[in-house]
Amino acid sequence: MAEITKPLAWWKTMAVYQIWPRSFFDGNGDGIGDLWGVLQKLDYIKSLGVDAIWFSPLYPTPNADYGYDIADYRGIAEDYGTLELFQKVLAEAHDRGLKVIMDLVINHTSDEHEWFQKSKDVNSPYHDYYYWRKGNGKKPPNNWKSVFEGSAWVRAEETGEYYLHIFAKKQPDLNMSNPKVREEVKDVMRFWLEMGVDGFREDVITYIAKDEGLPNGIPLPVGAGLEHYTSRPAVKDYLREFRDDVLRRYDAFTVGEAPMMTPKLAKKYITEGGDQLLNLMFHFQHMEADCFLTDFIPTRFHLKKLKKALGTWQREMRGVAWNALYLENHDHPRIISRYGSEKYRVESGKTLAAMYLLQSGTPFIYQGQEIGMTNIRMSSMDQFKDVLTFNSQKLYAMFGIKGDRYLRIANRCSRENARTPMQWNNAPNGGFSEADPWFRVNPNYTEINAEDAEADPNSLLHWYRALLKFRKDNPLILLGDYKEYYKNSRNLYVYERAHEGKKLLVICSFSEKPQRVSAPDGWDFAQAVQVFGNYAKPAAQTNRFTTQPYECRVYAG
Ligand code: NOJ
Repeated sequence: MAEITKPLAWWKTMAVYQIWPRSFFDGNGDGIGDLWGVLQKLDYIKSLGVDAIWFSPLYPTPNADYGYDIADYRGIAEDYGTLELFQKVLAEAHDRGLKVIMDLVINHTSDEHEWFQKSKDVNSPYHDYYYWRKGNGKKPPNNWKSVFEGSAWVRAEETGEYYLHIFAKKQPDLNMSNPKVREEVKDVMRFWLEMGVDGFREDVITYIAKDEGLPNGIPLPVGAGLEHYTSRPAVKDYLREFRDDVLRRYDAFTVGEAPMMTPKLAKKYITEGGDQLLNLMFHFQHMEADCFLTDFIPTRFHLKKLKKALGTWQREMRGVAWNALYLENHDHPRIISRYGSEKYRVESGKTLAAMYLLQSGTPFIYQGQEIGMTNIRMSSMDQFKDVLTFNSQKLYAMFGIKGDRYLRIANRCSRENARTPMQWNNAPNGGFSEADPWFRVNPNYTEINAEDAEADPNSLLHWYRALLKFRKDNPLILLGDYKEYYKNSRNLYVYERAHEGKKLLVICSFSEKPQRVSAPDGWDFAQAVQVFGNYAKPAAQTNRFTTQPYECRVYAG
């Protein structure tokens, strides 16, 4: 087995805080989160013990997909500030030792991007920046279905041709097979790297190559054609070109978002040494423990599915590549509401945090996760704003699921659960803004907010800080072996990390009901030090105990 090169690269030892700017903190009083707000909260971010910030898109956008539809790759949306303000945030972040990672969305642009506007002229060189095709008689060029909105094709009056959009209609796909498009992408990368940013989170990066001829796909109501645009061989060629021509010259960090990614396939992108194309990959396998393929097909939560996914990635990447660890981002409901318990919010939040932060990899923490924010309950569909949530509404309606029945599904499954404004204190609007916020604040801000969490030594916020510090002080977490116990348990996730004679045992109950735990071979709880516990430490540590709801204990030996 190849040994991971030492000393570890900076991006292996970091923890990243993700900001979804619209809902983070409003610094200019217009009800929308912005960079003025970020500036005021940099010390808070630093205080968590993270080393980097990943900004979801800050660029000018018509907000059809809240920034993931970029109208100008080289600017900052007016809602969020200016380029000068961004540079100030960058400098201030760097002064505090925080790296800055930008979101790079290159599978598609906004239809309001200048390139797309120009591409409507069939004689313009921009025409070939996108996938413009003639229809098939009265039908679109092929049977592909978008992930967000019906057919993947829209016919434009101006040209009589159709353009391809894998996501929303206002997100036309770029034709990456055109070398001019790749030059544009490289220029965009250089623009931000020259300014001093430290790397990119690359949006749906495995979708950027489409099969030649755009052949029909297996007919599916959503995502038909995905076998012709997911992880196609040319993705690697494009990534190699970006790496060789730009990224490696700046020591830039990259994490690629990769739906439907498996460990085997991931190794083709992130295996270290040789032809490594990305540093990390965001896969989705552990986000499917309570749903089938997508959040919008919910199932019961199965801890065994979660353990299998996380464990497999721990084992498969070991000594070969590096894991990206996350439980939340702007695309999924809140993790406590999914895999934990709102009733045992703090306890289950602590268990979830320890469960993933003590694994090997680079952890990502999404705004509000550190204070245990939970899902919001909307009372009607007009309170939602997200294109994906409305698309699912149409799909469910095809099966007769409408009205309150769909509202219940949206409340559980919508990614807008993650997009409610950050809850800073118990002032009106959770202290997010003095103006009317652009989106509903979860009314539970009176109990769940950063200020109260700060004041409570037993809060989840302090637990996150302690775990992040513990990771820094114990190389075993990055480098140790990973071994599971209680593999068949539906309620317990127990794993051991071991490195150079040191050991850690992480015991997590995912149940309200008591679970019996016995010290695994080689462990004596009377001798071991309990380094974390989300309930009061027992006076005497016995080798057998029964868990309290969502109990978590971590022993060092
Ligand atoms: C993944 C992003 O995380 C998501 O928010 C977005 O809607 C799609 N890619 C399309 O850009």
